[in-house]
Amino acid sequence: MKILILSGGKGTRLWPLSRENFPKQFIRLFSKHSLFQETVKRAKKLAKDEDIVVITGEKYEWIIRSELEEIDANEVRVVVEPEGRNTAPAIALGVKYLIHSETPPSETVLVLPSDHLIKDTEKFVEAVKKGEKYAKEGYIVLFGEKPTYPETGYGYIRLNGKLEEGVYEIEKFEEKPDYEKAKEYVSDGKHFWNCGIFLFTLDRIVKDYTQLMPEIPFHEKWEDFIKDFKNFEEISFDYAILERTKKLAVVKMDAGWSDVGSWKAVYDNLPKDEKRNVLIGDVKAMDTECSLLLSQGKNLIACIGLEDFVVVGTEDATLIVKRDYSQKVKEIVKELEEEN
Ligand code: GDD
Ligand code: MG
Repeated sequence: MKILILSGGKGTRLWPLSRENFPKQFIRLFSKHSLFQETVKRAKKLAKDEDIVVITGEKYEWIIRSELEEIDANEVRVVVEPEGRNTAPAIALGVKYLIHSETPPSETVLVLPSDHLIKDTEKFVEAVKKGEKYAKEGYIVLFGEKPTYPETGYGYIRLNGKLEEGVYEIEKFEEKPDYEKAKEYVSDGKHFWNCGIFLFTLDRIVKDYTQLMPEIPFHEKWEDFIKDFKNFEEISFDYAILERTKKLAVVKMDAGWSDVGSWKAVYDNLPKDEKRNVLIGDVKAMDTECSLLLSQGKNLIACIGLEDFVVVGTEDATLIVKRDYSQKVKEIVKELEEEN
C-alpha cells in the first residue's frame, strides 16, 4: 500500500493558534507530537516510510521536513506542489508521483488528511485493512462516522446495501450540503459523515481523473506535468471526483475521529479537571468552569467567573469566545483579514 498525506491546507479555524503560516496540522495539543506527526505515525502502521508521500506547499516544506526528522521518519517522501490548488490537484500530483516512481497500476493508495485527530489507531488500521479488499475490487473506499449534528462543513454519504458488517455501498455522495439538508441527513439514519480518508487502486483513480478532469495529463513527463499544474481546476477531490463518480463504498470507522475544526472540538477532545476546565500553559482560573484556557508563550492569563468559555492567548492575539460560538471564529478571522 502507498499512502499520500495531504498537508497543504491553510485552516484558520483554530485562530489565533493556527495561522496561514502555521496551520492546524502543526499544532501540538493532544500529545507531544503534532497532528501531522501523529498522522505519519499512523501511516507507518500500514506502509513502509518510503511508501509514504507527503504533498505540501513550499511554505510548509521546512516544517514538514523537521517534523519528520523529529519522529525518525526521514525516508518519508515530500512532494512540493507548485501552488495550492485544493485537494483534487494535490491528490493528482501524488498519483502522478506514484506513476512516475513506477508503482504498479493495481497498487492500493490511501489518502490521509494531516490535521485530524484519531484516538484509536488500532481501529483505524482495522478499518483501512477492511477497506482494502473493496479497493482491490475497483471501489473508491471512503471512511465514515455516524453524524451527531448538522455540520455543513462535511461531506455526507448516503448508504446503500450492506457489503459486510460495517461496510456499505454508497448511493450518493454530497459535499457540504446546506443546513436544512444536513439536518435531514442527521435525522434519517441513512447517512454517514465523510472523514476525508480515501482508498483506491492507482488504475481506478487515473480512470476517474481522466474522465472527470481531462486537463490533468498523467501521460506527460514529470516536468511537464509540474509546469501544467497551474492549469488544473482549483477544486476539492470531493466535488471533482466523489460527487461525480460511481462505485463507491464506505467503511464505518468508529476510531474516535475528529477533524478538530473548532475550539469546541478541541475542548471536547482534551481531558478536563474536576471543574471541567482545560487549562494549558500559564493560566489561572477562579470560579471558572467548563472552559478552555490556553496561553502560549509568556503571557499569563487569569480568569474569574467564566462558564463555557474559550480563551486562547498567543504573543500577539487573544481570542475570547463563548464555547458554542467557536464555529464563528473563521468569520472574525475573515473580517480581520479584510480590515488589514
Ligand atoms: N497539499 C495540499 N494542497 N493539501 C491540501 C490542499 C492543497 O491545496 N488543500 C487542503 N489540503 C489538505 C488539508 O491540509 C487537509 O489535511 C486535507 O487536505 C483536507 O482539506 P480540507 O480543506 O481540510 O477539507 P475540508 O475539511 O473542507 O473537507 C474534507 O474533509 C471533511 C472531514 O474533515 C472533505 O473531504 C469533506 O467531505 C470531509 O467531511
Ligand atoms: Mg478539514
